[in-house]
Amino acid sequence: MDTTRTALVTGGNRGIGLAICEGLAERGLDVVMASRNEDRGEGAAASIRGRGGSVRVEQLDVIETASIEACKERLDADDVTVDVLVNNAGVYPDADALEATIDQLDQAWTVNTRGPWLLAKAFVPDMLERGYGRVVNVSSGSGSFGEGLDTNHAAYSASKAALNALTMTLNDALPAGPDVKVNSMGPGWVHTRMGGEAAPRTPEEGADTALWLATLPEDGPSGGFFRDRERIPW
Ligand SMILES: NC(=O)c1ccc[n+]([C@@H]2O[C@H](COP(=O)([O-])OP(=O)(O)OC[C@H]3O[C@@H](n4cnc5c(N)ncnc54)[C@H](OP(=O)(O)O)[C@@H]3O)[C@@H](O)[C@H]2O)c1
Repeated sequence: MDTTRTALVTGGNRGIGLAICEGLAERGLDVVMASRNEDRGEGAAASIRGRGGSVRVEQLDVIETASIEACKERLDADDVTVDVLVNNAGVYPDADALEATIDQLDQAWTVNTRGPWLLAKAFVPDMLERGYGRVVNVSSGSGSFGEGLDTNHAAYSASKAALNALTMTLNDALPAGPDVKVNSMGPGWVHTRMGGEAAPRTPEEGADTALWLATLPEDGPSGGFFRDRERIPW
């Protein structure tokens, strides 16, 4: 039986998401690179294909419910089953709780929390039916109560804390039996457009724990929050 797994990565066209796509392709998975702009996705996918990786680009804006539904329908029509979902796309509004505008609150919630939630609702039922699935929610230490929430980016930290709540509640909703796991991870401070030039970590270093969680063995953890492959506090 062909056990090649297929992984869908949101915001896969650049930054940590691209490093996750590259790492999954290197590990032999078929990658669905979800990009809100198809041309940017195709540009990024070319280098993976050049190294022999298998990658399909899908237009997906995680803000738009219809865009998520249309992506799922196209994959279903082509018999592409998603075994691994990496909710990576994110935005980082720069404002504290009093400064944050309604638009910033809506952006943070819809991209960082609502999008991953709708994608989990779209793909986890099929994973349960097939008996295998891995969901990785790319969160942040900024959303950790235990590490101290990032009060300078209040909408961001609240949306990532809510993403962690999704991880916990989704894990609790999984029935016993199928090998389906859901975890949150924080990549650390990573040199990307979001993280800025001063960040000490490369996108590859930031992607490592997501790649580990995306390919966990059956006895691996579920319902946890990790950085550098170690548990961190919620
Ligand atoms: N960098 C860090 O230090 C750091 C630290 C902790 C956590 N994180 C988390 O890591 C993840 C990736 O961050 P990054 O540093 O790689 O950020 P980035 O370089 O800014 O990339 C963000 C990605 O998300 C995509 N995106 C934004 N809005 C979207 C939407 N509505 N629909 C679909 N895609 C959308 C972007 O697409 P476009 O190219 O089309 O804009 C881009 O591919 C995020 O969830 C972030 O919160 C990052």
